[in-house]
Amino acid sequence: MAEHNENIVWHEHAVTKADRAAQKNQKPCILWFTGLSGSGKSTIAGALEQMLFARGNHVYLLDGDNVRHGLNKDLGFSDEDRVENIRRIGEVANLFADSGLMVSTAFISPFRADREMVRGLVGEGEFIEVFVDADLATCESRDPKGLYKKARAGEIPFFTGIDSPYEAPEKPELVIKSGEYSVEECAQQIVAHLEANGFI
Ligand code: ADX
Repeated sequence: MAEHNENIVWHEHAVTKADRAAQKNQKPCILWFTGLSGSGKSTIAGALEQMLFARGNHVYLLDGDNVRHGLNKDLGFSDEDRVENIRRIGEVANLFADSGLMVSTAFISPFRADREMVRGLVGEGEFIEVFVDADLATCESRDPKGLYKKARAGEIPFFTGIDSPYEAPEKPELVIKSGEYSVEECAQQIVAHLEANGFI
C-alpha cells in the first residue's frame, strides 16, 4: 500500500463543515452500529434512517453488505481485510459527516481497536457507538441469511462468532438489546439518545 505522500498538501476550502451543518440545521454525527451478523444492525439502522428522514434530518446509511459489493468488493474476511474494511468505512463516514450529514454505519466491525481508530478520526462527541447486543445463540437461531448454518458446516471459514473473534465494546454510547425489543422500539431508543444529547 502507498505510504503517506509528503507532496500532497491538505487544502482548506472556504465552505466549512460548520457551514454545511448549519445549512442543514443539524449536528453531524456518526452512529456506528456494531454487533454480530444477524444481531439486527442493518434492520435497526434502516428503521432509524426512516425516522430521522421523516423528521427532516439529512441522513445516510452505509451498510456492510452493500458496501462490500462496491467500494470494498476487493476485501474478504481475513483479519487484515476486516481492518481495511473498517478503515475505509471510517474515512468515508467521516467525509459524510464533514458534508454535514448524520451518517449511520452497519458493519460487524469486530475489532475494538479499529472502532476506536474511527472514533479518533471524527470530531469530539460526534462518534456514537451503538452496540447491538444480541448473543451468538440468538443470532444463530435467527440466521436470516443461512450463513451460520453454512459456517457450522465448515463452508464459510473465519465466520464471526464461530471461528473469528468479536470484541464487544467496553464503553459504547448505547447498548441496544435487539432480542428484547421490537425494531421500532430499538430505533426509538436511539432517537431518544439523539434528542437527549442535542443532536436532533
Ligand atoms: S466486518 O467484520 O468486516 O465488519 P461486514 O459487516 O463488512 O464485516 O460484513 C459482514 C457480513 O458479511 C455478514 O452480515 C454476512 O452477511 C457476510 N459474511 C460473509 N462471510 C462472513 C464471515 N466470514 N464472517 C462474518 N460475516 C460474513
